[in-house]
Amino acid sequence: MQDGVMPGLADALALFSDVPPEKAVGDQVIMGWRDDDGLYAVAAILRDYPCDGTWYLGLLLVEATRRGRGLGRTLYSAIAAWAEARGALDMRLAVLEVNAAGERFWRALGFEEIRRVGPDRFQERWHRRVELSRSMAGRFPERDALT
Ligand SMILES: CC(C)(COP(=O)(O)OP(=O)(O)OC[C@H]1O[C@@H](n2cnc3c(N)ncnc32)[C@H](O)[C@@H]1OP(=O)(O)O)[C@@H](O)C(=O)NCCC(=O)NCCS
Repeated sequence: MQDGVMPGLADALALFSDVPPEKAVGDQVIMGWRDDDGLYAVAAILRDYPCDGTWYLGLLLVEATRRGRGLGRTLYSAIAAWAEARGALDMRLAVLEVNAAGERFWRALGFEEIRRVGPDRFQERWHRRVELSRSMAGRFPERDALT
């Protein structure tokens, strides 16, 4: 969807090093969730970007066969709690305009549009992106239920 070509090992490796020029690789944390069947979800989060207190979720990807069962919501809740404990005041992310399902997912979690950017080139394709944001102060039913 994003690049017009299938991802390869180089893309997986780039996930660990691709950060904006003003940030260091150490500002980004890559999270993975696995069970006996292997890795089933990945997330990338960058602290204090584009400004202090705002954390940028560069990626949240759930293995295709496990989608639509509440896993993405649960993982986001865990990521948000983890980031908030480290000083995040709000979370920001960008979803491709073409990724309507992804955008609905984020809006269902309480994210609101800030602006649209692009079009920008992603290998074989051009995309506009919707930047979305959500304050950490907003209530999160799963997390609140745990406290
Ligand atoms: C987006 C993604 C992480 C969501 O994970 P998921 O486990 O499928 O989502 P959940 O089952 O936890 O859904 C949570 C909420 O979002 C909504 N939602 C999820 N996918 C949706 C879709 N395709 N259409 C409409 N709503 C959707 C659900 O209705 C649910 O709301 P509810 O709890 O009020 O019913 C997952 O589908 C994925 O990995 N997609 C590919 C990568 C991607 O697009 N990532 C996000 C872009 S940065």
